[in-house]
Amino acid sequence: MKIPKHLAIIMDGNGRWAEQHHRPRVYGHVKGTRVAKNIIQECSRLGVKYLTLYAFSTENWMRPQAEVAFLMKILRRYLKKETQNLIKENIRFTVIGEIKRLPADVASSVSAAMVATEKCNGLNLVFAISYGSKQEITNTVKLLAEKIAAGEMTADQIDESTIQSHLSTAGTPDPDLILRTSGEQRLSNFLLWQAAYSEFYFTNQLWPDFTVADLKTAFEDFGNRQRRFGKVAHKNEITLN
Ligand code: IPE
Ligand code: IPE
Ligand code: MG
Repeated sequence: MKIPKHLAIIMDGNGRWAEQHHRPRVYGHVKGTRVAKNIIQECSRLGVKYLTLYAFSTENWMRPQAEVAFLMKILRRYLKKETQNLIKENIRFTVIGEIKRLPADVASSVSAAMVATEKCNGLNLVFAISYGSKQEITNTVKLLAEKIAAGEMTADQIDESTIQSHLSTAGTPDPDLILRTSGEQRLSNFLLWQAAYSEFYFTNQLWPDFTVADLKTAFEDFGNRQRRFGKVAHKNEITLN
């Protein structure tokens, strides 16, 4: 089993899980939150250094208002109940996404949790909330254009690292493994730039059914991958006849 330094998870399938159990969709979100807590704890225990959880996408704002409100309620409750545990477990909590779009009290709870766990140096837990990768990249382009217009830099000075350091994930290594539950095999606007050389792991299991054992299975699979980053694995002698 190989532990990725940065694991990113697209926690998908809550609604379908609820449907399977003849319950309203929101019931799936409640169960999914419990699973998230277990997985966070296990990642912390296993020594994962960065865990990014896709909790709410920019596009998820287009869901029925009642579901959005319920998801905000879950987030509010999570932050209130879990911040002390995060500190106890030495987990640093941060967020990527458009925090300004969140209800004011949720946005301030997010900031409070970030401040409260600032000094923790175990697992870095990143919640992607109201996050969209295209929006993130658009913001980065705007920011750089403004700097150029202000004469702070020239277009020539832009390289990959300039872009990397202006994304909301600045300072975080790119994900080694991106895991998605529910059988969908797409990124849904998640970490498009950052996923350039990530390994992908898709499972048909719905997020509320996902277990610690499943996480370990994913890590086993990850351990068997050969990451080449465009290079060759072995420098074989090339003989030209
Ligand atoms: C993932 O589960 C949670 C969020 C997107 C907030 P879904 O709510 O997308 O569940 P499905 O995909 O409809 O089953
Ligand atoms: C992606 O799931 C977002 C989260 C898991 C938070 P969606 O359910 O929103 O993605 P699509 O619509 O199936 O692509
Ligand atoms: Mg979904």
